[in-house]
Amino acid sequence: MGDMIRLCSIDEVKVGEKRRFKLKDLGVEVLLVRLEDGFYAMENRCPHAGCPLSFYGEVREGNKLQCNCHGAVFDLRDGRVIEGPAQSPLRTYKVTIFNNEVFVEI
Ligand code: FES
Repeated sequence: MGDMIRLCSIDEVKVGEKRRFKLKDLGVEVLLVRLEDGFYAMENRCPHAGCPLSFYGEVREGNKLQCNCHGAVFDLRDGRVIEGPAQSPLRTYKVTIFNNEVFVEI
């Protein structure tokens, strides 16, 4: 099990929004997305060519995240590639809600 890192309180990100968190100590940037059914966390870096998903990522219907750099589409629940050009999955992180706070396991 990795470290549990607090990102924010649940009220800070509304349904349909995404927000970037820089975890400097770990050298990781996390993108947190809130959908109707909960929060999803992933690396803020497209595995295709490294574009930041906080800028290029667009949440689409059906739990999809499209990287508008070159058009790759991922399932943001598990990071799998739905459409290329990306070949490898998006790295995702387990989210836990505790006392109205959002934590990710890194
Ligand atoms: S960097 Fe995301 S699709 Fe190319």
